[in-house]
Amino acid sequence: MELQKPAPFISADQIAVRVRELGEKITADYPNQKITVICILKGSVIFFSDLIRMIDRPIECEFMCLSSYGNQMQSSGEVKVTLDLKNPIEGKHVLVVEDIVDSGLTLHYTLNQLRLRRPASLRCASLLYKPQAVKPEIKSELVIDYVGFEIPSRFVVGYGLDYAENYRGLPFVGTLDNVEE
Ligand code: IMP
Ligand code: MG
Repeated sequence: MELQKPAPFISADQIAVRVRELGEKITADYPNQKITVICILKGSVIFFSDLIRMIDRPIECEFMCLSSYGNQMQSSGEVKVTLDLKNPIEGKHVLVVEDIVDSGLTLHYTLNQLRLRRPASLRCASLLYKPQAVKPEIKSELVIDYVGFEIPSRFVVGYGLDYAENYRGLPFVGTLDNVEE
């Protein structure tokens, strides 16, 4: 099957510059702490891998896989944890790394679940953020501490993000024709 070629939207160079900036900011924000960095699989895996190499602090890596019920393009808000963290996070400084915040439902749910485990602190980073897509009732509660890029409500792929499991390996973020949200 021929896959459509995504149109470049955020280049690999732009991403690299921004990820370095975020890493420097995170390094400065955690002066003396070890950070437990949680990769939300699968979409965040590339961003997570690049980001942790830009954080000049001791870190512990954890992985969590969530599946949200819904179709390929929209989550329903019901989130299931399909792979949980290996270790407890109680008393730890936790940074959750997401690929994209669209409706905000997934990150909102994840943060609420993790907060119940009583970390010493809980922050989050998202490479992409669609401010116009976030549900109003969530927007007032959801603080994204580190945002890579604010983008319009377009469907994007690449750098970890997929469309039906394709395109995750693209080194840049691109848009697809005829895939409007
Ligand atoms: P939410 O709507 O903020 O809960 O986003 C849920 C999930 O949908 C994200 O973690 C992504 O995996 C996926 N998603 C949302 N928008 C996009 C997009 O533009 N491209 C690819 N995946 C997306
Ligand atoms: Mg995701």
